[in-house]
This record gives sequence, structure tokens and C-alpha cells, in this order.
Amino acid sequence: MTTQSTAEQELAHKAESFIRQCYEELAIDGQATDRRIAEIRAHIRQTGTYRHTEDELKHGARMAWRNSNRCIGRLFWQSLTVFDAREARSADDYAEAVFRHLAYATNGGKIRPAITVFSPERRMRIWNHQLIRYAGHEQLDGTIIGDPHSAAFTRICKQYGWRPQQAQSFFDVLPLVIGEAGSAPRLFSIPSELVLEVPLTHPEEDRFAEMGLRWYAVPFISDMALTIGGIRYSAAPFNGWYMGTEIGARNLADVQRYNLLRPVAELFGLDMSTNTSLWKDRALVELNAAVLHSYKAAGVSIVDHHTAAEQFATFEKQERQAGRGITGRWSWLIPPMSPSTTGVWHRGFDNTEHDPNFVHQRPPYDHA
Ligand code: ARG
Repeated sequence: MTTQSTAEQELAHKAESFIRQCYEELAIDGQATDRRIAEIRAHIRQTGTYRHTEDELKHGARMAWRNSNRCIGRLFWQSLTVFDAREARSADDYAEAVFRHLAYATNGGKIRPAITVFSPERRMRIWNHQLIRYAGHEQLDGTIIGDPHSAAFTRICKQYGWRPQQAQSFFDVLPLVIGEAGSAPRLFSIPSELVLEVPLTHPEEDRFAEMGLRWYAVPFISDMALTIGGIRYSAAPFNGWYMGTEIGARNLADVQRYNLLRPVAELFGLDMSTNTSLWKDRALVELNAAVLHSYKAAGVSIVDHHTAAEQFATFEKQERQAGRGITGRWSWLIPPMSPSTTGVWHRGFDNTEHDPNFVHQRPPYDHA
């Protein structure tokens, strides 16, 4: 018998605990579970690793969503569609799979949560933070046109030859960037028919539309790694639908993002000479009302923070009934607007991280 490295022992251990939980949840009998664990152990001994079956991958990815402590939308974890793209090899294969996922997820506005899982053996990474994201163009005077959050990544895109189609605007969709860390990536412009966007209007104030604001329909995180039973999938982009405050109380409102509370307050004629007029709070409400109204009018899935908090309470109840503990990170679960009006505000959460899960990883362009 050959001695196993500690890494392999650790992998076998993680694999076993994942398989036991996964198979129990899928109501697979004990014998089949033991057989599968023995098979995985043998595989690890021979090759140093093992390969998930389609069912393990599918349920593992759903468990990862269920274990995402920062996510308030976890009630829907069982509805996650899982695309197995482990056969993809070239950057072209990756781009094709990602675009197919995007079309499926967008679904004309009736958004479907999905994940595409690429091979854990390949070093290929998706360099974008989110698949659809607006460029942040740095100006000579240090100001930024567009989304400051994308400034560093926009610089990388330009370094590899990307230019916006017209003159720089506030909402230029960045290209899809795929490649191994440390070498030149491939850039793919996202076909415009795949990019659903919502122009923002206000339910009562007609002049709001003149601000020319918009946001994209599908939040699609593409830079996190998915970990299942000791296997790390470093390319596993996933999407959900938006909660309104992500856009209206953060992306468009944060001082270090689009910083729009002042112009909105001006439009509504609020008294900005004193904090005590609560002009920031009022502007925040109007901006968020515009976001929810616009997505609804465009037929694009979105949830308000009150409903999302109620759905989260249902998720907790469901988890209790299934005999599982619930973990969460309070500072992320509370919505950034009127948090104390929701149930999540008034309680604490156990922030233990369980596997499967999604984890942050270093951007590939940090190494370049
Ligand atoms: N907060 C991020 C954004 O505003 C998106 C994170 C994922 N959100 C989601 N609803 N699935 O773009």
C-alpha cells in the first residue's frame, strides 16, 4: 500500500463528508453511498483527485447557494439550473457556454437562476467580476466616467485592446475576458441582443427619465470559486435576479459608485441646505421607487427588500423543518435601505461557513 499525501487524505475526507450529506438529501441508500465513497477514495489514490457525477455537481452547486451566508435570496436554492461545462477547453468554448447561459438566464426578462460549471482541472478563469458590468473610464483629472467599481478592470480591458463602441459613456458594457492568470486573455464583446437593460423612469415624476439612467437586468457573478467536497471550481459563473436596493441604494447611490443622490434630490426640488430635511433619505426612496417601477414596467424580474426579507424568513422555516441549521452574515443580509423595517434586522445569525460554498479568489490580472 502506498502512503497517501496529507493533501490527498484531506481531499478524501472532504469528499466523504460531502457525499454523505448530498446522498442523504437525495435519499440515496446507505449501500450506494458507501460504494461511491470507496470508488472516490480509490480514484484519489490513483489520480490524486476525483470527478463529480452530474447529480453530485447539480446538488452540490445548489447546496453552495443554500450555504451562501451573504445572500438573502436563498429560498430559491432548489430551483438553480446547473450547466455542466466541464468539457469546455478553449476560451471560445468558455465564451460560447457563458453566452448560452446568459440567454437562458435572461429569458426575455423572466430571469432564471443558473450556474455554469467549468472544469476544475483547467487554469482558465473569467476575469470579469460580473459578466455584464459598465466600464469606469478614468479621466486625466482623476474623475471617472461610468462605474468607478470597474476602473481597474476597465484599464485591463483597454490594455488588451478594448475600446468602447462610441465615445465613452456612463453605461458602456465591458467585454467578456477569458484566460489563464499570467498570460494574455481573449476578449469577446457580448452580443448586444444578449444584454437586456432597463431604462429608468419614475412612477410619478416624468422628468426622471431625462437623467438617462439605466441598469442591466441580470446580476451575474463570474469571479468567485465554487467549492464542493474538496474540489475547487475556479470558473463557475452564476446569476440570480436583482433586489432593488442593490441598484438603487448601492450601485447608483454610493458616493464611490454612481453617486446620484444629489442630482436626484435636485430633480425633486429637495432642500439640500440642511441634513435635517433628510434630502438624502428622500432621494434614496425616489431612486429606489424608480428602479422597482422600471424593472416591473419592462417585465424584468426584481424583488423589493421587504418581500425578499419575507422570503428569507420562509427559507429559514424551511431549513428548520429539514433539520438543518441556518447560517448567515447579518451585515450583508440586512438591506441597505430602511433595514429596521425588515425582520432580519432584529436578530442575529451564525456566520459559520459550510461547504459546498462560493469563495472569493484573487483576480487573475493581479498576477499579470
Ligand atoms: N450586488 C451586486 C450588484 O449590485 C450583485 C450581487 C448578486 N446579486 C443578486 N441579486 N444575485 O451588482
